[in-house]
Amino acid sequence: MRHLLDTRTLSRDDAIRILDVAEDMADTQGREVKKLPTLRGRTVVNLFFEDSTRTRISFEAAAKRLSADVINFSAKGSSVSKGESLQDTAQTLQAMGADAVVIRHGASGAPRTLATSGWIDAGVVNAGDGTHEHPTQALLDAFTMRRRRYGSASRGRDLAGFRVAIVGDILHSRVARSNVWLLSALGAEVTLVAPPTLVPQDVSQWPARVRFDLDEAIAEGPDAIMMLRIQTERMSGSFFPSEREYARLWGLDPVRFEALSGDTIVMHPGPMNRGLEICAEAADSPRATVREQVASGVSVRMAVLYLLLAGERAGTDTKESR
Ligand code: NCD
Repeated sequence: MRHLLDTRTLSRDDAIRILDVAEDMADTQGREVKKLPTLRGRTVVNLFFEDSTRTRISFEAAAKRLSADVINFSAKGSSVSKGESLQDTAQTLQAMGADAVVIRHGASGAPRTLATSGWIDAGVVNAGDGTHEHPTQALLDAFTMRRRRYGSASRGRDLAGFRVAIVGDILHSRVARSNVWLLSALGAEVTLVAPPTLVPQDVSQWPARVRFDLDEAIAEGPDAIMMLRIQTERMSGSFFPSEREYARLWGLDPVRFEALSGDTIVMHPGPMNRGLEICAEAADSPRATVREQVASGVSVRMAVLYLLLAGERAGTDTKESR
C-alpha cells in the first residue's frame, strides 16, 4: 500500500487485510509494554490544517507505539498562517526526510494533491479532508462492528448482512462517506437517515438506502446505529429550524434509545454533542461503542502506518519499482 487516501477505492480484500493487521496490532496493545520496534528510524509527520483532538492523538500514539519518530505540525502558529502554500510545506517536509505524512485539511482532495503532486516521496494518509473522506475513521468503525459481531473470531471476515443506520448530517460528513464505501465493500447494508436538507444531491449514486424518518429506521432494528455530529463549522446557511427541533426529530433521545432493539450497538465518531444528536443515556450505556472506537482507532492506524512503511516497502522494493 503506497497511500491511504479514501475507502472508495478499497476492495473487500484490501479492507479485510487492514482490519486483520489491526487485530494483530490490538493483540499487542493488551501487553504491559505496548511498544514495537517495527518503524524504528522512520519519521511520521502529522500535518493538521484543521482542529482535531482524538484523530491527531490517535495517529501520534499509533506511530510512537511502532517506534517511529513523530513530528506534529499544526497550521496554527506555523508559516501556513503566514500564507505558505501546501507545496512549500510539503517540500519542507520532504527535505526533513518524512517517510509518511498524515494530513487533515479543510479542502476536499488536499491529500490526493499531496500524494500525486511529486512534491514528496512520503506515503500519504488522509486524516479527514473537507467533506470528502476520513478513511481511518471508517476502518476503525468497521473494526469495532466486526469485533462486536464476531469477537475473537473476527479475522478474515467481512460484514455481510450487517445492517447499519447512519443518522444526521450526512451532507457535511466525511465519516458518512467513508463508511458508506467501506461498509458496502464489506457487504454491510447501509441506511442513511437525515432531514432532506442534510442529504447530498448525488446520494442516489451511493450504495445506500435513504430514509427521512428516524423512528422508522429504529423500528427496523439495525445492528448498529451511528449518530453523526452536526457540522456547524461547515454550514453557511440554516439547514434545520433550531437545535431543539433537530434533537426532537433526529436525535437519539431517551425514548428512541429505549425503542432500539436489544442488541443494536450505538456508535459515534466524536466529538459528541450530548443532548443534541445523542442523549447521555445512550452515550454512556454498555451498548455504546464510543470508547471502543477510540481504542480501535490506535490499532487501525498502527496497521495503516505499518502497511505503508513496513509492509510492501520492506526488503528489496525500491522507490522506482513502486
Ligand atoms: C470526525 C471528523 O473530524 O470528521 N471526528 C473525528 O475524526 N474524530 C467527525 C466530526 O468531527 O464530527
